[in-house]
Amino acid sequence: MASPEGYSRLQIALHWAVAGLMGLNFVSSDAMKAAWWAVEKGRDAFGNVAMVHVASGILILVLALLRLAVRLGRGAPAASAGTSPMMALAARSMHAALYGAMILIPLAGLVAWFGGVRAMGEVHETLFAVTLGLVGLHVLAAAVHQWVLRDGLLLRMWRAR
Ligand code: HEM
Ligand code: HEM
Repeated sequence: MASPEGYSRLQIALHWAVAGLMGLNFVSSDAMKAAWWAVEKGRDAFGNVAMVHVASGILILVLALLRLAVRLGRGAPAASAGTSPMMALAARSMHAALYGAMILIPLAGLVAWFGGVRAMGEVHETLFAVTLGLVGLHVLAAAVHQWVLRDGLLLRMWRAR
């Protein structure tokens, strides 16, 4: 795959847009859960906040697919200087897992809600819980690079090259 010097402006914008929308889906999830359980009891509790959860979730799916296309076409910069092959592999695997999460979480939610598939609700929640841990590690890794190794990694997701 191609290895450009850095991430493009579009890649950076999409990274932070999706991170923000993931936060929005997290804070709107209680309302979505309430709407989901109300349906089980034959009631309707689908309000504006649940609507935000669905709309923002669909947007994440669309942006993630766009991101994947850009990444496959343009590529991503090589691991920062001094990174061991093991750590470079760990970073690549983490990024692949995060792509999987950005696509599979909303897909499972859509199948649960619009298809009425209860088990997919469980899958949706479990995938999210695992992803929360992965994002935690991802942010921790970025912080270690930035403030312990001091290799300016955070800037790669800030300044386009
Ligand atoms: C990446 C996007 C999304 C994220 C991060 C996300 C996150 C979450 C979270 C954190 C919960 C609550 C989990 C819990 O309390 O244990 C939840 C519940 C739910 N979400 Fe999403 N969601 C996303 C997209 C969607 C989409 C597009 C739909 C489609 C309508 C959807 C439908 C649901 C439903 C039906 C529930 C309740 C499931 C249950 O209680 O079993 N979500 N979501
Ligand atoms: C405050 C939160 C976050 C910080 C500080 C952060 C930081 C970074 C940094 C510095 C990179 C560049 C790594 C490199 O060049 O090797 C990166 C890449 C990446 N991040 Fe994050 N990130 C955050 C949240 C997220 C979230 C929520 C997701 C998705 C669930 C995500 C998915 C990715 C992916 C897939 C890449 C690989 C590059 C790409 O294809 O866009 N990040 N992140």
